[in-house]
Amino acid sequence: MALREIRLEGDPILYKISRPVAKMTDRMRVLIDDMFDTMYDGEGVGLAAVQVGILRRLFIVDVTEEDEDPNPMVFINPEVVETSGEQTGSEGCLSVPGKVANVTRPNFVRIKAFDRDMNEFVYETEGIPARVILHEYDHLDGHLYPEIAEGPLMDIEDVEMEEDG
Ligand code: NI
Repeated sequence: MALREIRLEGDPILYKISRPVAKMTDRMRVLIDDMFDTMYDGEGVGLAAVQVGILRRLFIVDVTEEDEDPNPMVFINPEVVETSGEQTGSEGCLSVPGKVANVTRPNFVRIKAFDRDMNEFVYETEGIPARVILHEYDHLDGHLYPEIAEGPLMDIEDVEMEEDG
């Protein structure tokens, strides 16, 4: 288990465009394992390689709840094939710690990518998993969610207090 340093909003690397992964290597496998460790440690649901300082088109997602079995997914050189509908909901990012804001995104996504064995797959989903995938996808092109957030970023603690009543 190895944790990588998460780059934070303002770090120039987060605004750069990631380059394709040419092939799977031992180094890349270690990166993916470290990214999962780092994401779970930060209680995140998604993480892009650029967020740990590696400018490669790769992100990971696991949107399962705490009481469910983990479902770690790896998306390498992803391509969004289709989106439709619309959803608005609260979003956060490990590179923007302690903050959340409302973001509107497509409700449905169909995405093509390669898994950690470099096998191509097509995945489609809707709702929160689609939101997470599209959020991570934006990271590969140097975009952070505050760019498209509706209204100011809120402190997550304040929001949780409201939800608790
Ligand atoms: Ni993010």
